[in-house]
Amino acid sequence: MAEKEGALRIAAIADLHIKEDGAVSYKSLFGEISREADVLALAGDLTDLGKLKEAELLAEDLKACTVPVVAVLGNHDYESDAVDDVRGVLRRAGVRLLDGQATEIDGVGFVGVKGFVGGFGKTMLGSFGEPAIKAMVAESVNEAMRLENAMRQVRAQRAVVILHYAPVIETVVGEPPEIFPFLGSSRLAETIDRFRVSAVIHGHAHRGAYQGRTPGGAPVYNVARHIAKPDGRPYALLRI
Ligand SMILES: [Fe+2]
Ligand SMILES: [Fe+2]
Repeated sequence: MAEKEGALRIAAIADLHIKEDGAVSYKSLFGEISREADVLALAGDLTDLGKLKEAELLAEDLKACTVPVVAVLGNHDYESDAVDDVRGVLRRAGVRLLDGQATEIDGVGFVGVKGFVGGFGKTMLGSFGEPAIKAMVAESVNEAMRLENAMRQVRAQRAVVILHYAPVIETVVGEPPEIFPFLGSSRLAETIDRFRVSAVIHGHAHRGAYQGRTPGGAPVYNVARHIAKPDGRPYALLRI
């Protein structure tokens, strides 16, 4: 149940990077989240190398989670060319895996895409020159368009966007500046700002900053497991 009328408590975390040795278990964390929150949102890099075994370990840990789970995949989940298997395992575990879709939970619309690289602001990579560069920019634009199409599906008054890549530069600050262009794309924020969005969560930038805003004012949270959250938890607890 929501803590106060209308507020949905969302526990958000990214970059679990579950390895197939099973050395780290998230069972107790998912148990705690089930007591503290109404929804668990996972923002990609759920597995370390995109292996079936890693996804199975996550599915096993998620048995301890009694609240709905919404998720997007991250770049690491694609590494082993087994992404369809990874998706299948997570969907069978009850995860609402979003990849250009929206889903509604207790009056809040959740929209998810992975996003892509490309950089931020005036230094964003442009579609010029070699086909390989143009293909890279096209992928970035395509993810923003898929986000837009998913946003149009939302009927709820409140919307939360789940990404893996960052939509703004503020939440990647702390990473080496040389790799900023590989941590996200402003094209995602441009799309978000055409809609009313209560919160955006992402991961990927393990050494980034917790909080930022899109140019249009939507709050952005980098919920990578490695990032310190305000209350000392490994996950963010958002009230939307
Ligand atoms: Fe990661
Ligand atoms: Fe990542």
